[in-house]
Amino acid sequence: MKLLKSIEEVREYILNCKNKNFSIGLVPTMGYLHEGHGSLIKQARKNNDKVVVSIFVNPIQFGPTEDLSTYPRDLEKDSLFCESLGVDVIFAPSSKKMYPSNSISTFVTVNNITEVLCGAKRPGHFQGVCTVVSKLFNIISPTRAYFGEKDYQQLTVIKTMVKELNFPVEIIGCPIVREDDLLAKSSRNSYLSNTERQDALVLYKSLLKCKDLISTGEFITANIKKEMEAIIHSVSSSKIDYIDIVDTNNLMPVELINHDVLVALAVYIGETRLIDNMTFKIKEA
Ligand code: PAF
Repeated sequence: MKLLKSIEEVREYILNCKNKNFSIGLVPTMGYLHEGHGSLIKQARKNNDKVVVSIFVNPIQFGPTEDLSTYPRDLEKDSLFCESLGVDVIFAPSSKKMYPSNSISTFVTVNNITEVLCGAKRPGHFQGVCTVVSKLFNIISPTRAYFGEKDYQQLTVIKTMVKELNFPVEIIGCPIVREDDLLAKSSRNSYLSNTERQDALVLYKSLLKCKDLISTGEFITANIKKEMEAIIHSVSSSKIDYIDIVDTNNLMPVELINHDVLVALAVYIGETRLIDNMTFKIKEA
């Protein structure tokens, strides 16, 4: 496995692969890898001749009061993890390599679907994500790129960007990977104290409650959200950022569930912001 830190080195490697007609699977990450990333890497390994994992904590997708400086990093551990999964290349550029000038003036913006859910709460976040993912696509020219469904909105935004800007890459979404107690895997789980780690289970519990309610014929989203809120508020460390029930395709909020929906939530447990979601297929009446 190669660890490449410069754009020139990775371009040279990619050119070589392209000359041999190799397909390339890209797994974009911010590092501190866990089994969630592992499942993306395994899928990429199955579908492609070469697998590239990018590790880059992208400063421009963090808000001024967010956790950029404390975001967990461990390149050594990540390298061992990638090697064990048969990754061919880790691309781990520095910020200076990705953004050589202090002020960047070119951004990629996707409108509408970025104005709800996490996008509404984290202004500029998806512009940062789309810009860095576009840069990675331009540097690596992957055949396929893999993203987790835990960031369902991110996956939808990237699919939209790829379609509308004609990026020649297939976007593959992979299911959420959970801990044994069903907390969604996340690099940010490492911030939680033992008590908070227990408290964090309320996110999935509230989604299960929602599942229960829908299966017993409750389709009014305000009622469902109220019950979910009660579960989240059962632990004092929690603060709800949002709970939303939206159309799976355009991410617009719905009042009455009569077609497929995404139930998504972001909750602070102590200082740590966690997200989770579930999708529901609704049979047309
Ligand atoms: O999901 C992430 O880890 C990041 O948003 C991504 C896609 C690697 C872009 O920085």
